[in-house]
Amino acid sequence: MKTIFKSFSAIFLPVCALSLAACNQPATKTSTASTMTDSTSTATLPPAAGFEKTVDGKQAHFYILKNKNGIQAAITNYGAHLISIAVPDKAGKLTDVVIGFDNIDGYKKSMSAYYGATIGRYGNRIAKGHFVLDGRRYDLFINNKPNTLHGGKQGFNDVVWDAKQIDDHTIALTYLSKDMEEGYPGNLNCKVTYELTDDNAVKISYEATTDKTTVVNLTNHSYFNLNGIGGGTILDHTVELKAGNYTPVDTTLIPTGKIAPTAGTPFDFSKPTTIGSRINDNDEQLKNGKGYDHNFVLDKHDITTPVATVVGDKSGIKLEVFATEPGLQFYSGNFMNGGNTILGGKTDDHRTGFAMETQHFPDSPNQPQFPSTVLKPGETYKTVTIYKFSVEK
Ligand code: BGC
Repeated sequence: MKTIFKSFSAIFLPVCALSLAACNQPATKTSTASTMTDSTSTATLPPAAGFEKTVDGKQAHFYILKNKNGIQAAITNYGAHLISIAVPDKAGKLTDVVIGFDNIDGYKKSMSAYYGATIGRYGNRIAKGHFVLDGRRYDLFINNKPNTLHGGKQGFNDVVWDAKQIDDHTIALTYLSKDMEEGYPGNLNCKVTYELTDDNAVKISYEATTDKTTVVNLTNHSYFNLNGIGGGTILDHTVELKAGNYTPVDTTLIPTGKIAPTAGTPFDFSKPTTIGSRINDNDEQLKNGKGYDHNFVLDKHDITTPVATVVGDKSGIKLEVFATEPGLQFYSGNFMNGGNTILGGKTDDHRTGFAMETQHFPDSPNQPQFPSTVLKPGETYKTVTIYKFSVEK
């Protein structure tokens, strides 16, 4: 696979040692709530207290990243979640654009939505919860009948990571997923680094190594509402997606195996188009997904040009997504149902958030024609996703 770089263990071992050292160091954490500095701001980061908890015997914390523009993002090492980021809208008002909660219980209660989570060991679905690797069958927990979704029963979103805040705009989170955890082979050493850059982007870098051949597909599951979270549906947001093809799915959202052109279908976002303009079309794929819930095959994924650009119709806030991964799951929040109270006090109503999950294709372990998700000992899995915010001119 393109995004897995082979490296000699001599090079990797020091990295591994560094990650382990990071696990043992006390993390720099923030213990107070923080209000955005802009005078027009209404956005307030949640209080830290809701995240200073012990989960499964491990201490979770709340961290703040800042950049030179006064932008702040909140992260927790519980599930390596991105909790919040507030960016200026066209009037300069700081607007929280990522759906989050003010405590860990909020994430636990809404677990099946994976708000803001780091997803692993395998993002997206694996058909019928099993795959064969090197002639051996591996069985996973079926948490999204009849399939496995986003890591299984207890994915990387529901464990406490080790954290080391590197500086005021960077945090590195590490997690060792043990051999056969959730049914996957190999001890997988993972590192996720969040960086809030001075051009108002959240850069997420992933790294992983294994001691046995395994499969890996890590992603971030943030839901955005560029009009501000709780600001109504995302149906009038415009989306541009650089994807001439996508992977159609069956009724259980497993790819059929075909790579189909987007041209002439409701999946053609080659020009900016509102999410809602075709979402209710009489289209078999939209019915299977209950809206958009599909993997787009990216034309280019070299991190230099945006693979997706989304603009909030009311705020003018623009999100550009950059990726090294070959696929992107565009999910229009079809299963959101108002059952959870999010930051700011509103509920997570139907289609009031969308996700752009950079990834390898769903069910790749069972679909050899797709780019491979296999990671072998001695190789380093390395991928990068950037979510960059600005105002549409
Ligand atoms: C999946 C959806 C799922 C959502 C929340 C997305 O990545 O594609 O089908 O409902 O995650 O679990």
